[in-house]
Amino acid sequence: MTTQKTFEDTKKLLKKHNQSHLLAFWEQLNTAERQNLLAQIRQLDLAKIDDWVANFVKEPISAEISTELVPARSYGPAGADAEQKRKYGKAVDLGKGLIRKSKVAALVVAGGQGTRLGFDGPKGNFPVSPAKNKTLFQIFAEFVAAVSEKYQAVCPCYIMTSPLNYAETTEVFRSNDYYGLNEKDVFIFRQGTLPNFDFDGKILLADKADIACSPDGHGGTLKALCETGAIDDMKRRGVEFISYWQVDNPLVNLFDPLFIGLHALDEAEMSSKALIKTRPKEKVGNFCLVDGKVTVIEYSDFPDDLAEKRNPDGSLVFQLGSIAIHIINRAFVERLNSGGLSLPLHRAIKRIPHIDRKGGRVEPAGPNGIKLESFVFDALPLASKSIILQTVRSEEFSPIKNATGVDSVEKAKQMMIDRAAGWLESAGVTVPRKPDGSVDCLIEIAPGFAMGPDDIKAKLNQIPQIKPKDKLYLA
Ligand code: UD1
Repeated sequence: MTTQKTFEDTKKLLKKHNQSHLLAFWEQLNTAERQNLLAQIRQLDLAKIDDWVANFVKEPISAEISTELVPARSYGPAGADAEQKRKYGKAVDLGKGLIRKSKVAALVVAGGQGTRLGFDGPKGNFPVSPAKNKTLFQIFAEFVAAVSEKYQAVCPCYIMTSPLNYAETTEVFRSNDYYGLNEKDVFIFRQGTLPNFDFDGKILLADKADIACSPDGHGGTLKALCETGAIDDMKRRGVEFISYWQVDNPLVNLFDPLFIGLHALDEAEMSSKALIKTRPKEKVGNFCLVDGKVTVIEYSDFPDDLAEKRNPDGSLVFQLGSIAIHIINRAFVERLNSGGLSLPLHRAIKRIPHIDRKGGRVEPAGPNGIKLESFVFDALPLASKSIILQTVRSEEFSPIKNATGVDSVEKAKQMMIDRAAGWLESAGVTVPRKPDGSVDCLIEIAPGFAMGPDDIKAKLNQIPQIKPKDKLYLA
């Protein structure tokens, strides 16, 4: 079929879906540009886009908050009674067994850039560790290596990038020799993208022959795992459970035997870690039960009255916050994809540089268009069973979202030091502290030395006496 014929067909199709402007610069394009533009348009599901424009772009259907919304229940960080303590013990043994049998894989979603940090590059390559300035990727890779060593198991590592930072992320791992991991056990893949729209529902052009699009949200992980062969790779390896986290959290316990074990014991398909929120409007997703199903309602969509609601003892009614740490069954991902996976879309009003109708480049001063994303946690209500395990903020959550202030790099560094000090003290090591109780030295513990307080006890003879203002790195 000639390009001219394809052009005519495409023109007709776009007219039918009110997106004819995408071919406005056809006469100015060379052959390669024409092929490229036609290829991009062929990728678009215009019928679906009509639906998105109607429901998410033009008049966004306000996220219907079900009246049947009740607080979700969770397992506590430690067993609540003797019976639960027995179950937790069983779960830890089961979890360790599954890791030992290489049934668990690590998956980090790293499609985000370091823009909010003022860092030009993949957020994963941002240096954060207090003593050695290790990057997020290095910390995670060393944790995977330490788990492999401890359990004498293969722990494959899957890294989701966006098309924007795929090449740079791949080069970061290659040039750092995969941080000591076996290259064949590191699988870097790209998530999909979705077109961007103006407020009238017109798809924006990034250039005369280029549709403006952006990563499809971490909900896109579930589709990308299948489309890129990652799931097949897991299947070949006998992996059944995926330990999922976001690249922005350096404290995450990547392979938590208790979490994996409770998830498996309860035969859940997708489970989550939670924290007690520090305040009603903390910027975390909110765990609820909707029609009995575990559901996360994002902080930006959660009604204030529900967020502020308190129990007689003053605690928040909806107190469980999502920290974007999940265990997902490989089979669950396959099941979702076999049924034609389509998670709800969330709209974000963003600043989107584009080409205007006359072909002029527009660098908008403020938000001028719509980006659509799907969220991985919207798969939770689709799971036949889902559990929630509360964790401890100081042990497991210090996301790096901003350059300064809340959720900043400095805060994360300090939390890494405080956690290390806590581990050492719980093993009987004296850690210098200032009169206000804050740690008076800089400590960094490599995952290869300890992944938790229990590992410290076995290495007390390798820990020197720590003096005030010391800089200690244990590896
Ligand atoms: C996110 C969660 C929120 C949770 C909080 C915990 C969403 C929408 N909200 O908030 O419920 O409580 O983290 O810290 O996620 N990412 C991709 N590809 C994408 C989009 C995001 O890989 O297309 C990754 C990013 O690398 C980032 C992470 O997902 O690390 C979170 O994305 P972000 O949009 O920053 O969400 P938050 O507002 O931080």
